[in-house]
Amino acid sequence: MNNFDLNIPTKIFFGKGQVAKIANEIKQYGHRILLVYGGGSIKKNGIYDQVTKVLKEGNFFVVELHNVKPNPSIESLYEGVKLCREHHLDFILGLGGGSVIDLSKGIAAGFYYEGDPWDFYIYRARVTKALPLGGILTLAATGSEMNGNSVVSNEKLGLKMPMGSELLKPKFSVLDPTFTYSVNAYQTAAGTADIMSHCFEQYFSAVKDTYVQDRLTEAILKTCVQYGPVAVREPANYTARAELMWSSSLALNGILTYGKQGDWATHYIEHKLSALYDMTHGVGLAMITPHWMRTVLNPDTLYKFVNLARNIWGLEDKDEMVLANKGIQATAGFFKGMGIPMTLKEAGIQLNEEEIEKMADSILSFGPVGVIKVLSREEIIQILLSVK
Ligand code: NZQ
Ligand code: ZN
Repeated sequence: MNNFDLNIPTKIFFGKGQVAKIANEIKQYGHRILLVYGGGSIKKNGIYDQVTKVLKEGNFFVVELHNVKPNPSIESLYEGVKLCREHHLDFILGLGGGSVIDLSKGIAAGFYYEGDPWDFYIYRARVTKALPLGGILTLAATGSEMNGNSVVSNEKLGLKMPMGSELLKPKFSVLDPTFTYSVNAYQTAAGTADIMSHCFEQYFSAVKDTYVQDRLTEAILKTCVQYGPVAVREPANYTARAELMWSSSLALNGILTYGKQGDWATHYIEHKLSALYDMTHGVGLAMITPHWMRTVLNPDTLYKFVNLARNIWGLEDKDEMVLANKGIQATAGFFKGMGIPMTLKEAGIQLNEEEIEKMADSILSFGPVGVIKVLSREEIIQILLSVK
């Protein structure tokens, strides 16, 4: 196990009715809020009314930034920074899924930065100061509610890039499972796949002797396997929504990765897809994951795949390589069983080989991809051809 410094400062208010607590929390940081939200789901399901009622009763000054798109754009980030500066805002409240909370972080960092905030996403600048922010989560998936990561798209450049800073960890997040009842079956399945992918990215680590982290990761994977399909079938099942929501946060708040190093190749490849096409993040991950797994399965990594097959899928075989492949097959079957399209074509995206080659070059343009196995250009192309 590697050395680590643990820092998970986000307060979590978990459960029904917890949104009432945000007023006291926000008051510790400011009174002038940028409320960030998406394309309107919160207005249909009543969450907007609940949140604005609390803010009104707390006498906060509120400016809204809405219509934040999935895979949020750098233009929305610029707009958020402008609003914060114009209205002298001192707190950002992200009300939505990962896209909204990620964008809130980008705005928080951009507020104090003189240059173009896109610099943070292309490794040209580091965050040194940020506005405080909080999250109210409406979709269990990314873990953004409890980490310092932000992923933003730049359509003009055809890039979708991540950045991270300890300064961008939300001061608090509200996790009310009932806020996810209105998430449709497709997004629920995609969110479950995203949580599982975060587990896989950290499970398949080059650092060995991480028994406790691996068992914690398996617990979250098993929770997704148990409750993902239930939430897809029964959207208002509180237990299933609660288990997924807490799994979302636990999978990417650092607890699984402290002491080891994650791989993240699947995410780098998927981010390219959702930068260029209208692709739901978790769907892209579900497609890529089994092919990535087959690419990195070798005698060195075999033991991890054997654990996956045994401990998650309850499989056995006297030939460990056969067992590992059965585990990968079961992973793909699980995603498919939740209704996720497992090829780009099924998801309505047509790609030719030339486009795939360009994508591979772009994926590699910021450096090597993969840790448990560094992927070659040819391997990335092969993975993309397999999901074509
Ligand atoms: O815009 P609205 O109308 O709110 O609709 C959203 C959106 O269409 C809808 N939705 C959200 N909550 C809902 C709801 N619909 C009904 N009821 C509700 N309660 O769901 C759609 C997708 O929302 P989005 O926020 O895009 O989904 P998700 O939470 O999966 O976030 C995906 C983004 O997060 C990034 C992804 O790359 C992607 O851009 N990620 C962020 C990470 C992080 N910060 O650590 C890590 C992840 O790996 C990921 O890269
Ligand atoms: Zn993800």
